[in-house]
Amino acid sequence: MPLITWNESLSVHIREFDNHHKKLVTLLNGLFDDVTAKKDDALVEVVIGELIDYTKYHFAAEEKLMTKYSFPLAALHQQQHKELIAKVVDLQQQLKEGRARVDLALLNFLKEWLTKHIMGTDKKYSVFLKNKGVC
Ligand SMILES: [Fe+2]
Ligand SMILES: [Fe+2]
Repeated sequence: MPLITWNESLSVHIREFDNHHKKLVTLLNGLFDDVTAKKDDALVEVVIGELIDYTKYHFAAEEKLMTKYSFPLAALHQQQHKELIAKVVDLQQQLKEGRARVDLALLNFLKEWLTKHIMGTDKKYSVFLKNKGVC
């Protein structure tokens, strides 16, 4: 069973961002498979690197659009992105130095963070951006 299953409740009704979120779900599920199959740490490190890079790309895309249309909650939203990136970059450093491992607790944290962020924070821009003609 995958760690996260995509469903309509995760949709922000903006095609580009739904596609980004689906890709993040796929990457996270892939990482979950690698960890449960006990793939070696070097591979897991590469996959988590891909996940972090794609997360940065996605956050930047959301922030760009929120700024473009002067979304009132943009600063608060950006702050949440910034805090997660700081956390995962720190984690990546710890993995590199052998001071941490990717385990189920970490994967559950990422799952919770992603689903809560999409449903609680990302969804707040949906109506606003749609009213600006973004679809
Ligand atoms: Fe976001
Ligand atoms: Fe998002």
